[in-house]
Amino acid sequence: MLDLPCKGVFPLIELIEINKIYKTSKKTFFQALTDVNLKVEKGEIFGVIGRSGAGKSTLLRSVNLLERPTSGTVIVGSNNLMLLKEQGLQERRKRIGMIFQHFNLLSTATVRDNIAFPLKVSKQSPTEIAKRVDELLELVGLREHQHKYPKQLSGGQKQRVGIARALANEPDVLLCDEATSALDPQTTESILALLRDINRKMGITILLITHEMDVIRAICDRVAVMDQGRIVETGTVLDIFLDPQNSVTKQFVNEVIETPGQETFGTYQAKGRIIRIAFRGEQTYEPILYDAVRGTDATFAILQGTVSRMKDTPYGQLVVELRGSDADVNRIINELVQHGLGVNEI
Ligand SMILES: Nc1ncnc2c1ncn2[C@@H]1O[C@H](COP(=O)(O)OP(=O)(O)OP(=O)(O)O)[C@@H](O)[C@H]1O
Ligand SMILES: [Mg+2]
Repeated sequence: MLDLPCKGVFPLIELIEINKIYKTSKKTFFQALTDVNLKVEKGEIFGVIGRSGAGKSTLLRSVNLLERPTSGTVIVGSNNLMLLKEQGLQERRKRIGMIFQHFNLLSTATVRDNIAFPLKVSKQSPTEIAKRVDELLELVGLREHQHKYPKQLSGGQKQRVGIARALANEPDVLLCDEATSALDPQTTESILALLRDINRKMGITILLITHEMDVIRAICDRVAVMDQGRIVETGTVLDIFLDPQNSVTKQFVNEVIETPGQETFGTYQAKGRIIRIAFRGEQTYEPILYDAVRGTDATFAILQGTVSRMKDTPYGQLVVELRGSDADVNRIINELVQHGLGVNEI
């Protein structure tokens, strides 16, 4: 339970060439997943983002075979789930927790009994169950609500019950299906903070799906973008935000951070060349631009700038106009690139 997180050592979840075809009527079929490949490393928080109908839930439910892929391989830890018999699959599933957008709690059971439910199913003794439920109530901050029924709880509290229940059997993986989509922004933030805590303190690997880029930015290490049943782009959250390649990815990124382009400056008549510089990590706070310009006869004007944070990493975007000879401007751009900054002329 208190294993230290051990990031990036080996994939804990591996989906290989997954296809899922739903039968929609006697004669019609719908392909919800096409050739999906995904590796989630032990200890990371991995997000999958896509529009409604992109296949996110189908993908997530393939990981514990709630939805059995039509073809492909599903590996979790050391097991190829597609090859397990029913009992082996049940055993493995116990250690794959899952939480849902609409919580899926038992309405006729108290908070305490909802959390105890999976422990009863796995036939633990009443003493063990009581002890574990107490620990979980403490973890999710619901001790004083333990005798309430779901309808007496707020959305955020219901999701805390869902999380406690999912953690009852000490899973190594937590699957989250739009876990914060039914919550207001503040409650979303507190649930995301709880998930981040669980990941850090217990080393539980989290695979979450969402249609909100803010969720990805707040807690994920890496992200895959889905469109029409396919994964169209995968990368670290920073790379995806600062240098999106696919058009769907670009749309998602633009919803949360503006990537300045020519249109941003309207009728402004530039006197020099305009470049967009992307900083990441500790570079964000270094005077790299100043140093690069200082060695030349050129000057610069800042047209726009932002500094923000993605999970734990600071990043910044700066749009500057470099005024000087072409040779000087090229020298400055080279210098910036050599320092590992992302530079785009716009
Ligand atoms: N049981 C089913 N039978 C037939 N088609 C299905 C079934 N489940 C899902 N689909 C279809 O597969 C596609 C992907 O569905 P899925 O639920 O995985 O999307 P999603 O990305 O989770 O969407 P949302 O953001 O709306 O939850 C959709 O077009 C959906 O209509
Ligand atoms: Mg869904």
